[in-house]
Formats: sequence, C-alpha cells, structure tokens
Amino acid sequence: MAIINKVGGLAVFFSLAFFAQGALAAGVPIGDPVAGKDKAALCEGCHGGMGNSESSDFPRLAGQYAGYIVKQVKDFQSTLRANNETMAGIAAGVTDMQDLKDIASYFSQQKMAKEPLTKVDSKKASRGEDIFLKGKPEKDLYACVNCHGERGKGKAPNVPTFPVIGGQHRDYLVKNLKDFQSGARVNDPAMMMGDIAKKMSAEDIEAVAEYLSSQLP
Ligand code: HEC
Ligand code: HEC
Repeated sequence: MAIINKVGGLAVFFSLAFFAQGALAAGVPIGDPVAGKDKAALCEGCHGGMGNSESSDFPRLAGQYAGYIVKQVKDFQSTLRANNETMAGIAAGVTDMQDLKDIASYFSQQKMAKEPLTKVDSKKASRGEDIFLKGKPEKDLYACVNCHGERGKGKAPNVPTFPVIGGQHRDYLVKNLKDFQSGARVNDPAMMMGDIAKKMSAEDIEAVAEYLSSQLP
C-alpha cells in the first residue's frame, strides 16, 4: 500500500516537473554555448578543461544537463544547497543570468572524459549495479535507474530534473549521497534523494558510486 501511494505521488510530481521545466528542454536552447566557452574559463580552474575535472572534489560538468547546472548554481546562491562553501562563494559572483545559461549550455555540450579518476573495483561495481537497477525492495529502496536512466545517463534528453550521474567521480558521488543522508544537502525536489539516501547503508553508497564511476561515455 505504502509503495503504491508513493509511486502515485511521484507520478504526479513527474508530470508537474515535466510541465514546469518545459522551457529548459534540450531542444530549446537555454543559452549560447559559443559565448559560454569564454565565460566558463572561471569554472574550468576547478571543474577542469571542458568540464572534465582532475579531482573528485570537483564534479564533472561535461555532458550534464544545462538546466540542472543552472538550478544548482541558483541553489548555491540561495543557500538552498549549502553543502560546499567554496562553490557557494563562486556562485555568489555569477550575477548575470544570461552568463550562467551560456556557461551551462557550453558544459552540457562537452563530452565526458573516457577515463575514471579512481581505479574501478569490479566486484564492488557489480554489487552497485544490482542496487542501481533493482533497488532494495526489502528496504523499500526505489531503483536509481527509474529516475536517472540507463547507466545513469539521465531519464530523457528534455528532462533536466534528474542529473547525469553515470561517469561522475566516485568520491564526489559518495560525498553527495552522504550529504543527502545527513541533511547537509536538501535542495532535491520533494526530498526525493534524501528519502532514498536514508535507506542506503554506507556499503550500498560505496558500491553504487563504484558502479557509476565506471559508466563513462
Ligand atoms: C574554486 C573552485 C570552484 C570553482 C572556480 C567553481 N566551482 Fe563549481 N563546484 C566546486 C565544488 C567544490 C563543488 C562540489 C560541491 C559539493 O561538494 O557538493 C562544485 C559543484 C558545482 C556544481 C554542482 C554539480 C552537480 O553535479 O551537482 C555546479 C553546477 C557547479 N559547481 C558549477 C560551477 C560553475 C558554473 C562555475 C563557474 C562559474 C564553477 N562551478 C566554478 C568548486 C568550484
Ligand atoms: C524518485 C527519483 C529518484 C530516484 C529513484 C533516485 N534519484 Fe538521485 N536524484 C533525483 C533528483 C531529482 C536529483 C537532483 C536533485 C537536485 O535538484 O539537486 C538527484 C540527484 C542525485 C545525485 C546528485 C548528483 C550530483 O551531480 O550532485 C546523486 C549522486 C544521486 N541522485 C544518486 C542516486 C542513486 C545512487 C540512486 C539510487 C540508489 C538515486 N539517485 C535514485 C531523483 C532520484
């Protein structure tokens, strides 16, 4: 019963999200990626050339949805996302919305690097794949694939609500899942990720992150 109610609630949320974010659809350019290339120089110091950072402290932005990037920077500005002071400081300096849309469009069009930063433990990754695809019904943990799409590459091209997580740095994924779990990060719509992360053990988090870090382009 609980599961049915939950799925019903999510369905309503999804249709609202599709409607509200229609303007950010991939087919509709949200900014100018060419103008964004120069403006993104500020970001590339940490997020790496073309959004492929060299440290797990800084998430890869290459190939991420432009609409998701814009939302995160705005969330850092409004302090809705308060899990990193460095990024909050940078976000505060991005005051021109057109600049932000251009930068986000530029990163969204870059290709993710082909190599993971950390060596992949294939046993751990295969446990993670299981959780990613099936969840854990006994813990009422909904499978990640339902929202993040196959291999974590996103649900659909025009739905920036659900970020690309396949190919993201392992240690960044672990940190953010733990932040959702502890409540250090609460900017997820309808607390979807908080709810999910709280049903995961430390081993579950590490295994899923291991799997996702190996899902390169
Ligand atoms: C001084 C380093 C630094 C610079 C420069 C920087 N960032 Fe970040 N950024 C970070 C860190 C650190 C995080 C990770 C926060 C966390 O731990 O969750 C982050 C996270 C993000 C995220 C969240 C990504 C996700 O997957 O949720 C976005 C989007 C982002 N930065 C965009 C930008 C943009 C756009 C710029 C340029 C205007 C920029 N950043 C410049 C340090 C930086
Ligand atoms: C009901 C839908 C849903 C499910 C199921 C779901 N997620 Fe998410 N997830 C989201 C949404 C929405 C966001 C974006 C939150 C925001 O806007 O900041 C997100 C964000 C994330 C992030 C942050 C990405 C970043 O770049 O910072 C990670 C990591 C993540 N999810 C991992 C998972 C894992 C692992 C699972 C499965 C155990 C999972 N998610 C299942 C909806 C979901």
